[in-house]
Amino acid sequence: MILVAESLRSFLEREPSDARAAVELFDERSPIPARDCEGIVPTVVCRVDGDAMDRLRGLRVIANYGVGYDNIDVDAARRRGIAVTNTPDVLTGATAELTWALILAAARRLGEGERLVRSGQWTGWAPTQLRGVGLDGRTLGVIGAGRIGREVARRAPAFGMRVVYADRVPAADIERDLHARLVTLHELLEQADVVSVHVALTPRTHRLLDAAAFARMKPGAILVNTSRGAVVDEAALVDALRSGRLRAAGLDVYEREPHVPAELRAIENVVLLPHLGSATEEARQAMWDVAWKNLRLGLESRPLANPVT
Ligand code: DGY
Repeated sequence: MILVAESLRSFLEREPSDARAAVELFDERSPIPARDCEGIVPTVVCRVDGDAMDRLRGLRVIANYGVGYDNIDVDAARRRGIAVTNTPDVLTGATAELTWALILAAARRLGEGERLVRSGQWTGWAPTQLRGVGLDGRTLGVIGAGRIGREVARRAPAFGMRVVYADRVPAADIERDLHARLVTLHELLEQADVVSVHVALTPRTHRLLDAAAFARMKPGAILVNTSRGAVVDEAALVDALRSGRLRAAGLDVYEREPHVPAELRAIENVVLLPHLGSATEEARQAMWDVAWKNLRLGLESRPLANPVT
């Protein structure tokens, strides 16, 4: 038996019927049911902890539909000899594009402009109306130069931006191709006009961007987060936006999704998206293909394409 998250039904239905024979769908917003089950395909909203693994008798593979796997207790899986896989690469471009959509939307106040037009209150063009800030000649600070962070950096020259980045390991490719500079996190916060976050959520990165970090940022800087909500202290961000310390923010992710704090929703200069980073037709299909392939490989005891260690 294989369990697949209910929200993946349309992808599953395109698989040959014999491959689907032993599959059961489960509601990923409820606790995982007790079953004899060799493999599971959860989505990133589905928490798979040790208890859930124990309820799935005979579980051998967790093929996460998503590149982030903070929803899975990987240590608990390792202790139980259960393989975990994810879906890197196929959503990198989509997430980088969405990051730039947020950078532009925050810098040029697209949310406010759209709300103005939809409200019917727009009275016409005016020289000082909804002035944003240009990106040309400014500095992009990329926190976390993994696949997505580097792909975001690669698009910076198109907007005339230079790049600094903070990571534990140097990213030789963006240094060579873009003259991106490796700096400490503190230096990045002090130098960047736009700070974009691309780290995985771990105990080390939990609330990495807190009140102290916002106090270090350039007055009038922009923060964009398409990684995981809990990397940013949302209450501190509200304060930084309200005080004008930050010019604007663009968020695709939140600490307790789908809950978005009312204080954040009440602020004009923050663009809020519903976790759309990988939401292109191409990326979401490719994520399914990768997750399904990993599941099959794991069940056949063959080398996994994308093991999480
Ligand atoms: C991921 O893959 O981790 C995204 O957040 C969901 O697409």
